[in-house]
Amino acid sequence: MASGTVTESKRVTNLSVTTNYGRKVLNVYRVSASGTEKIKVSFCTDVDKSVIVHNFEKRGWVQVGPEDDWNFYWAVTQSCRNIFSVETGYRMDDNQSIIHYNMFVEEYRKSPQSTWIMKPCGKSQGAGIFLINKLSKLKKWSREAKNPFNPNLTKESYVISRYIDNPLLIGGKKFDLRLYVLITSFRPLKAYLFKLGFCRFCTVKYDTSIQELDNMYVHLTNVSVQKHGEEYNSKHGGKLSVHNLRLYLESTRGKAVTEKLFANITWCIVHSLKAVAPVMANDRHCFECYGYDIIIDNDLKPWLIEVNASPSLTSTTVNDRILKYKLIDNIISIVVPPDGVPDVKWNKCPPPEALGNFELLLDEELCAQEDKEFSSGKYRGLSSKWK
Ligand SMILES: Nc1ncnc2c1ncn2[C@@H]1O[C@H](COP(=O)(O)OP(=O)(O)O)[C@@H](O)[C@H]1O
Ligand SMILES: [Mg+2]
Repeated sequence: MASGTVTESKRVTNLSVTTNYGRKVLNVYRVSASGTEKIKVSFCTDVDKSVIVHNFEKRGWVQVGPEDDWNFYWAVTQSCRNIFSVETGYRMDDNQSIIHYNMFVEEYRKSPQSTWIMKPCGKSQGAGIFLINKLSKLKKWSREAKNPFNPNLTKESYVISRYIDNPLLIGGKKFDLRLYVLITSFRPLKAYLFKLGFCRFCTVKYDTSIQELDNMYVHLTNVSVQKHGEEYNSKHGGKLSVHNLRLYLESTRGKAVTEKLFANITWCIVHSLKAVAPVMANDRHCFECYGYDIIIDNDLKPWLIEVNASPSLTSTTVNDRILKYKLIDNIISIVVPPDGVPDVKWNKCPPPEALGNFELLLDEELCAQEDKEFSSGKYRGLSSKWK
């Protein structure tokens, strides 16, 4: 995949697919060290971003090509498919898409006043997204898609979801959260949340009127969309830290509801992972860094919008660069044993000081140990409340 142009992964139709189709095994590492022998760690990357390369070089690792003998590979989906020869598996055929359309019509009839958001499966970063508020518009769009002058359109699958039309606004503007989650194992589930998440704001005020339905500066919070707007501020890049959001909410809505909101966000993340854990490939050599998109509505209810398997590592501001550098740095500290050499036999229990800005969300292995200790009276309570 073209280096330097890889930003965010393609949209997947559904996180809970029953095969691994659509899953992106982001990062792979492999061990060539044996015993205590000191080796030079070699890395390979498909993503030619300085936040990645500088982090590896800082550790004295040497860059090699994918065909060479690497210890650590920051790979995009296609490379992983090649490496593991993963079956591409299940794909929808025409009939199935008709079945899904009927399901949508049923859903639509339950709440005909709702607005819906359509997202092409093969795109990301807000590309090709549009909103509809009438079934007739969807029918018109589908007829147009079948236009013989536009034959490619018929091949594209779309995800359609209920549009959250009452987002929490700050300064009259819509925003969503981008949170990073590291998964070092799916079975048992071991997941960490990066505490330096941020909010991404729209550049123009939120407006639900029909005239603004096509105005993506009102509805889509992606930086890749907003940075083209006239009101885009390249200094702060339309971003606010989650930490500052928390302070803002504590002062405007109160501490208790803010606490509850953040607990619900973690609940959402943990349960989305538990939902897919049984069907994910659980290779001991792999870990994942997911980018979660979450919208908070005006009743302070969080909604999971999307989980990106290859979240964008493009830096738009100075703070952004610092944050993403730390993200990669912290990830490496967690997934590589304390001696700095990738080792598949390691028990994946990083010491607390290796976590950096990550916090443990869930470690099912530790939970199981604690359960044992609990019954024997030695409970320590470290592995998370999300059992
Ligand atoms: N159901 C929804 N309700 C409200 N806004 C949404 C919804 N789905 C997506 N959005 C907005 O559109 C943006 C892009 O959608 P997303 O699913 O993240 O696709 P992409 O892969 O293009 O980033 C989101 O960041 C959010 O601002
Ligand atoms: Mg997104």
